[in-house]
Amino acid sequence: MSKKIVAVNASPRKGWNTDTLVTEAAKGAESAGAEIQKFDLYRLEKFTGCISCFGCKKEKFKGHCICRDGLTPVLDAIREADGLIIGSPVYLSEMTAVFRSLYERLTFQNLTYNKENYCCNAHMIPVLLIMTSNAPDTYYTQLLENYRKTLNLLVGPTEILVSGDTLQLKDYSKLDWPWTLFDPEAKKARHETVFPQECKKAFEMGAALLR
Ligand SMILES: Cc1cc2nc3c(=O)[nH]c(=O)nc-3n(C[C@H](O)[C@H](O)[C@H](O)COP(=O)(O)O)c2cc1C
Repeated sequence: MSKKIVAVNASPRKGWNTDTLVTEAAKGAESAGAEIQKFDLYRLEKFTGCISCFGCKKEKFKGHCICRDGLTPVLDAIREADGLIIGSPVYLSEMTAVFRSLYERLTFQNLTYNKENYCCNAHMIPVLLIMTSNAPDTYYTQLLENYRKTLNLLVGPTEILVSGDTLQLKDYSKLDWPWTLFDPEAKKARHETVFPQECKKAFEMGAALLR
């Protein structure tokens, strides 16, 4: 039976930086023989983050988020998967709100609050966490390391791919006022030279999820 990989795009912009890298990683996993199930979080039915109901802290539902909404099929798919690819842009120095909703529900369901055995996830899977930002690659290293630490503990061994200094618009000359924080020519050049390398890296890291 082929391995299953869940790929999650936590950017609202389909076909842009984050989605492209998630898709490339998924293609890499597919090339290594995986079956891909992709979710665009912005295109799901309505959902929330953790509502602190503590349903997952009952023996009967241990390790299972019992909140039923648009994220339920995503959590169910991850539970059955052999690996997870998840990508988010940085919004105001954090991952997007939809990423956070999934992250809360995915991790908290596995946390027992029992210090002798803090994690009840019996099916740890490799994770590829992708982040894109306007800021340079190293700007959010600490933030990413915090995510890695929690994902390592509660979901599975996590690798990180960062794409910084991304192209945010196709044409910076058509703006109502100049976005002088950025150098459009440098952004374009980077998108044409560095971004394809990052796509290649995403593909390789996606394939490596199955090893
Ligand atoms: C609401 C909003 C907030 C943002 N905040 C940040 C930020 O704090 N730091 C940063 O480096 N980039 C920030 N960005 C830029 C995006 O992270 C960056 O353009 C990203 O690559 C977009 O991903 P996408 O092309 O997949 O949509 C922000 C963009 C938006 C729309």
